[in-house]
Amino acid sequence: MAERPMLEAEGLTKRYEDGVLALDHISFAVQKGEVYAMLGGNGAGKTTAINLFLNFIEPTEGEARIDGIASHREPLKAKEKIAFVSENVMLYPNFTALQNLDYFTRLSGRPAPSRSAYRDALLRVGLGEEAHGKRLKGFSKGMRQKCGIAIAIMKNAPAILLDEPTSGLDPQAGFEFMGLLKSLRDEGKAILMSTHDIFRAKEAADVIGIMDRGHLVMQRPSRDLAGLDMEKLYMQHIAGHGGLAA
Ligand SMILES: Nc1ncnc2c1ncn2[C@@H]1O[C@H](COP(=O)(O)OP(=O)(O)O)[C@@H](O)[C@H]1O
Ligand SMILES: [Mg+2]
Repeated sequence: MAERPMLEAEGLTKRYEDGVLALDHISFAVQKGEVYAMLGGNGAGKTTAINLFLNFIEPTEGEARIDGIASHREPLKAKEKIAFVSENVMLYPNFTALQNLDYFTRLSGRPAPSRSAYRDALLRVGLGEEAHGKRLKGFSKGMRQKCGIAIAIMKNAPAILLDEPTSGLDPQAGFEFMGLLKSLRDEGKAILMSTHDIFRAKEAADVIGIMDRGHLVMQRPSRDLAGLDMEKLYMQHIAGHGGLAA
């Protein structure tokens, strides 16, 4: 019998108060130990989908489930199982890396971890000892993203959501970041991310979904895409460029 997916959207629909239909009955699943990359242009509905899982907004129809729990029905239970790394990580610039990690870890309600657990998490994400005591305001975007991942690691949630985590990172930082995601995936985390980077998505994700104007217009395991021209495939699935069936 198939395992219950860690993340599941079923008929997920969002019409904003002003009438914009941002998501129109989309369904997909992310298993434990899987990275799912959502591709799509600006306005496709990626952030809306992520925000529905996080219960930042309520669905108009359908459900976003985390380990079987509908996020808008049992938000507190759902939130325990999810870690979120945002596009512009909301960390305190005047706190050091260690202070940010401590603050957000305690905020998530976990019992206070040891100093060495913090140190290990920061080292794991590639922040060397010399950076632990430095204030975040001197950090590059790549370093701030690493700090965000360290917070997710400390929370030890089975699902991790990321909204355009590699935008604005230089190629090396992007490469390292995707390596980190893969190591978390290999630990069994379910990872859902949005991205504009079709090449990195193909390389690092297990499943690729292409969204266009609120619809999931293609979804395939990335192993089936080996040898395919990703740019062409992407353009074919975006409205107005041929619209070939998936
Ligand atoms: N708070 C909001 N109120 C009204 N419309 C919104 C709101 N947030 C997003 N939208 C609209 O919903 C659609 C999808 O947006 P979004 O989910 O941000 O897409 P993406 O993250 O793929 O760029 C867009 O048309 C956008 O303008
Ligand atoms: Mg977005």
